[in-house]
Amino acid sequence: MLTIGVDIGGTKVAAGVVDDDGTIVAQALKPTPADRPDQVAATVAEVVRELAQDREIEAVGVGAAGFVDETRSIVRFAPNLAWREEPLQKKISGLIGLPVVIENDANAMAWGEARFGAGRGQSHIVCITVGTGIGGGFVFDGKLFRGHWGMGAELGHMQVVPHGRLCGCGQIGCWEQYASGNALVAEARHIAAVQPKRAEILLGLAGGTIEGEEVTEAARLGDEASLLAFASIADWLGQGMADLAAVLDPGCFIVGGGVSRAAEFFLDRTRETFARRLTGRGHRPLAEIRLAELGASAGVVGAADLARLR
Ligand code: BGC
Ligand code: NA
Ligand code: ZN
Repeated sequence: MLTIGVDIGGTKVAAGVVDDDGTIVAQALKPTPADRPDQVAATVAEVVRELAQDREIEAVGVGAAGFVDETRSIVRFAPNLAWREEPLQKKISGLIGLPVVIENDANAMAWGEARFGAGRGQSHIVCITVGTGIGGGFVFDGKLFRGHWGMGAELGHMQVVPHGRLCGCGQIGCWEQYASGNALVAEARHIAAVQPKRAEILLGLAGGTIEGEEVTEAARLGDEASLLAFASIADWLGQGMADLAAVLDPGCFIVGGGVSRAAEFFLDRTRETFARRLTGRGHRPLAEIRLAELGASAGVVGAADLARLR
């Protein structure tokens, strides 16, 4: 049986036809109409139509970066996008005439990794996606945890700093303002502004405004400011995982999302901070901190599989 998984990202809509084994048999990509949330459904319909040509497709699963309601139909709120009470399921299924389920993007990714990636064989998985924001997904005893209203595991919006930085969600001091890709860039910009001598490589690369790719590139070339920025998000991630372990006691954490491609600059330090900050350390096993295995396709594979199991 074939289903289609769609991952709506900030810049692109990625879709794939996925079989029962979680293998992607065909793929399609389109730019996200970023400033037009009302256009997103049409773009999803286009990629689905393209992929469904000459194929028997059972259903479509869509991962979206926001708070999806318990009926898996409506994106009620998206901290970093313009969706508010968006009836995405209705719009997309109306356009393509196939069953559609909407899922939070990080939940979809967690499901993909749990079934076919780094979480195979694990019973208590906490997945953390580090990208523009921070997403969370829990898979416990083979079940995706959604919470009562579908909005569980919104890890990025736990307050970690009282009176802290303003967040896209409207609150202040959220974890994603300190440990995400955006936080990495904010940190690097800050260091470059106050101690430009330590950021010579980065400033040379960036020319004008510093962006994420340049921080990674500069870190690779040994830029001190960039390495410090990575160290900062590493510590925030490790501390957050220690807190999550206190609540959830997972056997493993899986780290994915765009920033995880630069794992060499932060993941070991995250593991160290986690081990140091874990409550009860020395008297409990250390949860493993693994890198996502399916990379950029985890969301597509997970969404497709959730549509199959709908
Ligand atoms: C949103 C989540 C989303 C995550 C990753 C957060 O800001 O609140 O719903 O999963 O970003 O995209
Ligand atoms: Na989630
Ligand atoms: Zn927030």
